[in-house]
Amino acid sequence: MKDFVNVGLLGAGTVGGGVLKVLEKNAEKIAKEVGKPVRITKVLDRHVDSLKQEYGDKYIFTDNADEVLEDKDIDIIVELLGREHPAKEFIARAFANGKHVVTANKDVLAKFGSELFPLAHEHNCDFMFEASVCGGIPIIGPLKTSMAANQITSIMGIVNGTTNYMLSKMANEHLDYDESDPTADVGGLDAARKITILASIAFNTRFNLDDVQVEGIESIEACDIKYATDLGYAVKLLAIAKNDPENGVSLRVNPTMIPLSHPLAGVNGVYNAVFVNGDAIGEAMFLGLGAGRLPTASSVCGDIIDIARNMQHKSTGRISCTCFEEKRLCPPDKMSAPAYIRLQVADKPGALAAIAAAFGAQNVSLRNVVQTNDVLSNKAEIVVITHSVSEANLQMALQILRVLPVVEAISCVIRVEDSHLA
Ligand code: NDP
Ligand code: HSE
Repeated sequence: MKDFVNVGLLGAGTVGGGVLKVLEKNAEKIAKEVGKPVRITKVLDRHVDSLKQEYGDKYIFTDNADEVLEDKDIDIIVELLGREHPAKEFIARAFANGKHVVTANKDVLAKFGSELFPLAHEHNCDFMFEASVCGGIPIIGPLKTSMAANQITSIMGIVNGTTNYMLSKMANEHLDYDESDPTADVGGLDAARKITILASIAFNTRFNLDDVQVEGIESIEACDIKYATDLGYAVKLLAIAKNDPENGVSLRVNPTMIPLSHPLAGVNGVYNAVFVNGDAIGEAMFLGLGAGRLPTASSVCGDIIDIARNMQHKSTGRISCTCFEEKRLCPPDKMSAPAYIRLQVADKPGALAAIAAAFGAQNVSLRNVVQTNDVLSNKAEIVVITHSVSEANLQMALQILRVLPVVEAISCVIRVEDSHLA
C-alpha cells in the first residue's frame, strides 16, 4: 500500500488553480477524511513558466500529457482542461491505464458519456463529475446515492449563472438584453449540456445533447419580465426534464415563467438551483453557486476524496454508469405547457376576436388577456397566457396568427410552468 493517494491534474486554470488551493489549505483534514494524505504530483498545462513562478517546485509542471497519463504512480486524473478535445481522449487514456477520473467537463460528458462510462467500467475505475453541473452544488452525488431509491418525476433547474444574472438584472433594473451574444450561455447550450447529464442520471437512461429542445433568452425583453411580474410570475431560463408515463421523457431548455411563489423564482443573480421531484422524497431544492474557482473546486475535491476512500476500502467502480434503462423520449410536438404570447396588433374592431378565434381553432384555451393601447399610432400590444397546450397546437396557432392581417408581429413566446394552469 502506498503512503499517498497521488493525483495528476490536467489544467491549472480557474478551477484547477482552485483545486490546488483547496487540497493544500485543507490537506490535514482531507488526510483524516480519507485515511491517508492526498497530493497532486504532476500538473499538465500550457503555461508551465508562469505556473512555476506562482507555485515554485511544489508540483511538477509539464506541457506533455504523456508525462501525467503514463505515470504509474498516479492514481487519479483530474481533467480540468475544458472543451471536447483532447480532454475526451485524455480521459479515455486514463481509464485504459487503470486510473480513476474526476472531471468538470460537461461538454465531454454530454457528448461522449456513452463511450467513456463503459471504458471506466471495463477497467474498474471510478468516474466522477459532480462539478460538471452547477459547479459547487452537490446534485449528481445526491441523485446517484441519497435519492437513488426514488422514481424521479421531474427536474427543473436554473443551471446557468450567466443568464440568471442577466435576467435578474433585467427584472431589477428594467434593462433590456439587446446585445447579440453568441455564447453557449445565452443560447441555452450550456444549460442543455447540464440537463442532458442530470436527466441521464435521474431517469437511468443515456440521453444525448440532441435530445434537448433548446431556446435561449435572446428574445426576452424587459417588458416581458414586467408583464410576467404583473401577472404573478418570474422569468427564468429553466432546464426541464420530465418523465410523463404516457408520452415519455421530455428534455428542454427555454425561458420559462414560474409563479413568484415557486422556490426557483427567488433564485437570483449568479446563483443556480435544481428543483427535484421524486416519488418518495417529494420536492427538494439544491441551491448554491454554480461556478467560480473555489465553489467548483469544492465539488472536484469532494470527488477526489470519494475515490480516495474507495481506493482505501478496495471498492472502486462501486457506482458505475447508472443508465440501465431505455426510457423513451417524448416527441417534441407532444410536449405541453401553458404559454405566454406577446403580440403587436392593429387597434381596430374585430382584432381581438380574430386573435381569440385563431387560438380557439387550435383548441388553445386562453386564461389571461392583457391589452395596452397606443392611441397615437392606433396600435395595441396584446399579451395572452394560455392553458396547457401541446407544442403542435401552439405552433399551428402561431402560424395562423402570423398571417392574420391584424397581427403585425409576434414579439415573444414564453412557456409557463404553473401547476394551477392545467
Ligand atoms: P480555464 O480555461 O481557466 O483552465 C484550463 C487550463 O488548461 C488553461 O490554463 C488552459 O490553457 C489549459 N489547457 C487547455 N487545454 C490544454 C491542453 N491541451 N494542454 C495543456 N494545457 C491546456 O478553464 P476553467 O478552469 O474555467 O474550466 C475547466 C473545466 O471546468 C471546464 O470543463 C469547465 O466547463 C468546467 N467548469 C468551470 C467552471 C468555472 O467556474 N470556471 C464551473 C463549472 C465547470 P489556455 O488558457 O492557454 O487554453
Ligand atoms: N458558464 C456557466 C454559467 C458556468 O454561466 O453558469 C460553467 O458551467
